[in-house]
Amino acid sequence: MLETLPSEVSVYEVSPRDGLQNEAAPVPLDGKRELVAALIAAGLKRIELTSFVSPRWVPQLADAEELARSIEAPPDVVLSALCPNAKGFERARAAGLREIAVFLSASETHNRKNTNKSIEQSFEAFAEVVPPALAAGMRVRGYVSTVFGCPYEGDVPIERSVRITERLLELGCYQVSIGDTIGVGTPLQTRNIVSALLSRIPAEKLALHLHDTRGTALANALVGLELGIRDFDASVAGLGGCPYAPGAAGNLATEDLVYMLEGMGIRTGIDLDRLIEAGRVAERVVKRPLPGKVHLAGPRRLRSV
Ligand code: HMG
Ligand code: MG
Repeated sequence: MLETLPSEVSVYEVSPRDGLQNEAAPVPLDGKRELVAALIAAGLKRIELTSFVSPRWVPQLADAEELARSIEAPPDVVLSALCPNAKGFERARAAGLREIAVFLSASETHNRKNTNKSIEQSFEAFAEVVPPALAAGMRVRGYVSTVFGCPYEGDVPIERSVRITERLLELGCYQVSIGDTIGVGTPLQTRNIVSALLSRIPAEKLALHLHDTRGTALANALVGLELGIRDFDASVAGLGGCPYAPGAAGNLATEDLVYMLEGMGIRTGIDLDRLIEAGRVAERVVKRPLPGKVHLAGPRRLRSV
């Protein structure tokens, strides 16, 4: 195992988007700005800021334009946002973003409940987003949700997720993030899914987006790492949730991921102490304790082994 580990890994922070979209009480703009500033101070270089989706569907992120326009990020920090359709792309471009992300599910029922579209209709919408975004000089990331399981349909055939991922890459996405949306994945399942993807797609085109709903996210990330995945999505202090499991833990906590990686000698470019501070900011702005482990326990002060 140790011979296959990389010297560095890229962390894609999703807390302002995936985390805050799940909060029952919308977080005020100032709280979002404070969180993003703390994430930038911790050294995160890729941050998903918000979503340019329908404010009727996700009222928590209705201030997307104001937030995007009010953040002054250093030039080496890339801010991104979800865009489901041409309207979302136009809003993101007008707000000055250099990167966006399109998203769909590998299961029809979840895709319809999440975006009011079939999988094919989502691809029709993306044909009006990805080419114009690339022509405007933006980068586009893709997401495939419910790859590890769907709350309505149960098991999802791996081949379907692989094909959707290939289509997103063919359309022009620079990378596709593979989602365990409801946090049901196990390490063996992760091995099967990632191996199937890697048999057809280069590792640098893939990321893992793991939710820690059942406590398996870090174990699944380690399996992905061993198989060659070098990009992981995470959310500070585990901010987030699962709409299908009220009260459950959110995304894989960024501190937990960074602690494990740095402790294994894998560089992330992130300052763990400052990241723990960002986790405290997250707790303050959402006014509740968050589930991640390392922001509670603190870093270890012993030499890594
Ligand atoms: P729809 O109701 O079918 O939209 O929603 P429509 O095209 O029929 O338009 C209806 C109205 O919405 C119109 O306004 C549009 O202008 C407006 P009206 O004429 O009635 O006043 N509208 C918009 N407004 C602002 N921005 C837009 C936009 N588009 C339409 N972009 C739609 C379809 C896709 C818009 C809707 O279903 C939607 O916004 N869904 C978003 C759901 C969402 O954000 N889910 C969470 C993110 S996915 C996720 O969390 C998974 C992930 O983390 C990975 C993982 O965990 O696996 C990424
Ligand atoms: Mg998610």
